[in-house]
Amino acid sequence: MSELKSSQAIGVFDSGLGGISVIRALMDLLPHEHLVYFGDTARVPYGSKSKETVIRFSHQISAFLREKQVKMIVVACNTASAVALESLQASFNIPIVGVIKPGSGAAVNSADNGRIGVIGTASTIRSGAYRAAIRELAPHMEVMDQPCPLLVPLVEEDWPHDGVVKQVLQSYLKSFEANKPDSLILGCTHYPYLKPVIQEVIGEKVRLIDSGEETAAEVQDVLENLGLLNHETGDPGKHEFFVSDFPQKFEETATRFLGRSLQNLFKVELEVLESYK
Ligand code: DGL
Repeated sequence: MSELKSSQAIGVFDSGLGGISVIRALMDLLPHEHLVYFGDTARVPYGSKSKETVIRFSHQISAFLREKQVKMIVVACNTASAVALESLQASFNIPIVGVIKPGSGAAVNSADNGRIGVIGTASTIRSGAYRAAIRELAPHMEVMDQPCPLLVPLVEEDWPHDGVVKQVLQSYLKSFEANKPDSLILGCTHYPYLKPVIQEVIGEKVRLIDSGEETAAEVQDVLENLGLLNHETGDPGKHEFFVSDFPQKFEETATRFLGRSLQNLFKVELEVLESYK
């Protein structure tokens, strides 16, 4: 890792545009860092795909980002973090940070009664990655998890929070009713956009853990420890966005997620992406 320089960008990837929640957290915390984002908009969702497929896609994107000379890769996608992180860390010679450990750490710290809830895509929950990360930090804690596959399309479609979204959440979060967790990990890039309605349904006493925000703090720590934080220049960081497709309503969704329109936006053809191994 000795050749890495603080002036290099941080690479961030997700299955689509949801990972912009992590980009926003990074922009707020580390405004001088250059960021290169890759959203696999042609192949989203990852949450319902097999482990092997998500690992293959994650390797292709990481190789693409590495070619962009990034100094670190942040796996913003919970599903990819859950199933592909170890394999990426073993293959790429730069620091690679996922969202599972930072989110788990924050949940453990705020679980006063030792009860943690996790919600995520079907693949993330099936992988048991959050359970394993929490067990490693605090083996005595009780973990309850619940896949919520309908939430991603509802967020993408921007459904109003008071109707179907609330009903769907009431149904999913019922499993936590009898035994309320102290903290609930929002284990998917899309769930932070539903924070107010999730809080309303689960109750005010449960602390919601935004894995994206926790990951931004972890990125800061890792870069600081390696002497790779880019605070030499007073200039704001540059941000580039790459996607594998411009699907319908792309502009609208991207603008909603980022809070402003995406600048420096480029498309990478799937054939090109697939040529990376
Ligand atoms: N980015 C995914 C995650 O955080 C959600 C969308 C998908 O299923 O690809 O798990």
